[in-house]
Amino acid sequence: MGEIDRRKMLASGGALAVLGALGGASSAHARPAWTWSASGSVAGAGAGVDPQLVWDEEADSLVASLLDRGAVPQVNEQLRTWTKNDQPLPEGLPADLRDFMERARRLPAWTDRGKLATAVEFNDKRGLYLGVLYGLASGMMSTVIPKEARAVYYSYGGADMKDRISKTAKLGYDIGSRNAYQPDGEMIVTCVKTRLVHAAVRHLLPQSPHWAGVAPEDVPISQADMMVTWHSLPTTVWQKLVAWQVPIPAAESEAFLHSWQVGAHLLGIEDEYIPATWEQANAQAEQVLDPVLAPTPEGIDLADVLLGLGEEIDGGILTRPVLGSFTRFMLGDQISEWLKIPREPFWDWGLNTFWGPFVAVREGVLDVFPGTGKLYWTFDEFLRQAALLFLSEAGPISIEIPTGNRPS
Ligand code: HEM
Repeated sequence: MGEIDRRKMLASGGALAVLGALGGASSAHARPAWTWSASGSVAGAGAGVDPQLVWDEEADSLVASLLDRGAVPQVNEQLRTWTKNDQPLPEGLPADLRDFMERARRLPAWTDRGKLATAVEFNDKRGLYLGVLYGLASGMMSTVIPKEARAVYYSYGGADMKDRISKTAKLGYDIGSRNAYQPDGEMIVTCVKTRLVHAAVRHLLPQSPHWAGVAPEDVPISQADMMVTWHSLPTTVWQKLVAWQVPIPAAESEAFLHSWQVGAHLLGIEDEYIPATWEQANAQAEQVLDPVLAPTPEGIDLADVLLGLGEEIDGGILTRPVLGSFTRFMLGDQISEWLKIPREPFWDWGLNTFWGPFVAVREGVLDVFPGTGKLYWTFDEFLRQAALLFLSEAGPISIEIPTGNRPS
């Protein structure tokens, strides 16, 4: 395989990352009881209402009204030019939308600029691991979150997964970029636009025939659903870094969490549901994420699309087994079986045997890699290419408010 082909193949893993942020409808699974206490949140206190019954009231009624009055196509056009955090909102936006966006774009009072600066250092240092983790851990995990899988499938963007993937990947790029929350960065804009998109999905998806008969509490993208997806991103990534024994100073660990806490707030998640520490995040994830994981026909289909992303490069001959094996390595046998990912004896063995020593040598914990130099290089190149693709900007991308569901 040539250099470019190999690069494309490795990069297709990075593209999977985006699924970590897509989402849907009702799960066949019983909903776990909500007992996580708001005392562990960034707010430190709260009403303690079950977040499965809370959505984003202000954004939701505003966007429903924009949709009902047919204003969305024009709003989308106006917002195309709004790309930088400090940029004034475009002229001519409806007054109610403008008011909302002016408020929604403000960083929370608890933002710590020092921590955000440290997060930049962390992203710089750990960008290689982050690419593959967002890609294969978060991305593939989203296909076994039933509500996400169904929302992705039946919403407007479900008809064109590649376009959707690049739009969602933008958030991963923006949060990891050097100027993420700085005046010339784009993360605030991306979050506020995404908040509007989610509000539209809450209005539109329940009108889909696939939602017929679902209970009111299954309106998609509740605060609980948002936290589930959030945990599939930073919490899952964090747990893997810890499991791989990547040494990370406490200040960087807190900073990485902080950048995602600020992101959660800007996406419309209420402060009382955003965990204040990794310990709290792990506890919440155990309650809201772990019990909902399950296969669905839509998720199996999406996973198959994702594992086939490399098909245009090599017909899937190498890309599919490698991506499948990495998925098994990251998420384990049960999820792999749910997703009908076959075992790959060579790759499964290679990852299980040599990934630990590879990370140890990379991190200076071990002096000598026990496998061949070629294998070490292959792992290193995999990280490099996945990070390159996932964490590099994919050209100008416009996140737009949908006006309908999946057409077919
Ligand atoms: C769209 C991120 C949670 C469902 C998007 C987009 C981003 C994003 C960046 C814009 C991409 C696009 O327009 O195609 C996130 C993040 C989340 C989150 C970071 C949590 C931290 C969820 C959840 C659901 C969901 C929980 C559903 C259960 C959707 C859908 C769209 C979307 C259906 C696209 C609408 C369309 O294309 O028609 N999300 N999301 N998201 N999200 Fe989320």
